[in-house]
Amino acid sequence: MYTIKPLADEDWADWLDIDVEAFPAWYPSPEEKAAHLKIYKQEQIDNPQREYLGCYLDEKLVGSVRLIDFTMRVLSVKLPVVGIGGISVDMLHRKEHVAKETMAAGLRHIRDRGIHLSTLYAFRPDFYRKMGYGFGAKLEKYRIKPSSLPRGESKAHICRLTAKDRAALVACYHRYFDTTHGLFEKNDNDVDALLCGDMYNTTIGYKKEGRVDGYVTYYINRKDDFQEQLLVREFVYNTPDALSELLTFLNSLSDQVHEIVLNTQDDQLYHILFSAPGSSDSFTKDGYFHLNSYRPYLRSNEAGVCCMYRVLNTPGIFKALKSHNFGHQTCRLNITIEDAFLPENNGSTIVHFENGVPHLSPNASYDVTISLDIASFSSLIMGVVTFKNLYNYGLATISPNDHIDTITRLFLTDTKPLWPQGH
Ligand SMILES: CC(C)(COP(=O)(O)OP(=O)(O)OC[C@H]1O[C@@H](n2cnc3c(N)ncnc32)[C@H](O)[C@@H]1OP(=O)(O)O)[C@@H](O)C(=O)NCCC(=O)NCCS
Repeated sequence: MYTIKPLADEDWADWLDIDVEAFPAWYPSPEEKAAHLKIYKQEQIDNPQREYLGCYLDEKLVGSVRLIDFTMRVLSVKLPVVGIGGISVDMLHRKEHVAKETMAAGLRHIRDRGIHLSTLYAFRPDFYRKMGYGFGAKLEKYRIKPSSLPRGESKAHICRLTAKDRAALVACYHRYFDTTHGLFEKNDNDVDALLCGDMYNTTIGYKKEGRVDGYVTYYINRKDDFQEQLLVREFVYNTPDALSELLTFLNSLSDQVHEIVLNTQDDQLYHILFSAPGSSDSFTKDGYFHLNSYRPYLRSNEAGVCCMYRVLNTPGIFKALKSHNFGHQTCRLNITIEDAFLPENNGSTIVHFENGVPHLSPNASYDVTISLDIASFSSLIMGVVTFKNLYNYGLATISPNDHIDTITRLFLTDTKPLWPQGH
């Protein structure tokens, strides 16, 4: 019924009308719309890594989706992935499966390009889960008093980073990217944003002998004459010294800054965030002991579901990850995936792991079979959830089940994937 194809040039005005109604954050005048169309068209030329697919009913645009190419660190390997964004459907055609059909065509299109993984913001987790996306790591939001951050012995290497430091900053991020599961490679625009020096992007670095080994990018939100919030956009460190000096710098702002808001997917970072217990807002304002019927706790932060991942091609992802070591485990595994949304990915993949090294072995024999849907498998291979938990939650089965520990160790990762900051 629908035709899904790249958005035609003459349909950009219709696209903007649908988009503005779908994301009603602004109500542009006709002149503003015309100006924005120019910008979007130019963006298409400047950013060939973005692609818009339109969904047409009788030649009329009724919905669209944006596909964005990224390079992601997946486990120990750099992989091309496609991010999905801006799904919007004409208000007159809601609940007519426009989004569903557009997404299905989009995912098929990405898979046909030889890309095995997609990711998106978990705007409506149930909706995207039905389309095969599994949860990423939760985002932890901390509101911290600067004085509760650890104050180290020095901040001697802290400096403002400017355009002159571009190469050192890029090198610093590359080192971080090379060792951090889940991150995206930065493009020129991303680096420009960090160094542009506008009110949203102050970048303070740790620089020693010309080498940058960490930075924090933030903006200050002045709530009133006495309340200033420092919102961290990016926090990157490659060494304990860089982390210590950056935290010491943030600590030193306590006379001016009322609270620091830090979003992170590092679920262990709280070990260092509250060096002066009781001095953070989280602990004093609403965090004192809540005695419920089970156990007392101190509220430390808010958290939420943030991003989701989807494997598009199960054999393909093992082929792409052939240099990754899966927990030094040895086992002959049959992975049976249920993928109703992308039936070409439905079915069994046999992988023989020899001391952690995966070998795709179609039609070979195997010792153990695991069965799960594509959403759960996507979270499993990204190291967001363990196999043992999936089994206990009833989201995966295994036969014979005396291999649960081996399969759990196979997919264990050192850290959960970090969603790129600043995006
Ligand atoms: C969110 C939005 C894109 C949905 O568009 P839509 O065309 O109405 O959605 P669809 O008709 O394709 O989805 C309808 C149903 O198909 C279901 N569906 C999706 N995948 C499915 C699958 N694999 N199997 C079965 N059902 C599925 C959905 O759950 C939904 O069910 P519901 O009606 O019970 O919720 C649309 O409302 C919109 O434009 N909203 C504003 C913009 C926005 O929020 N975009 C998303 C953020 S980027």
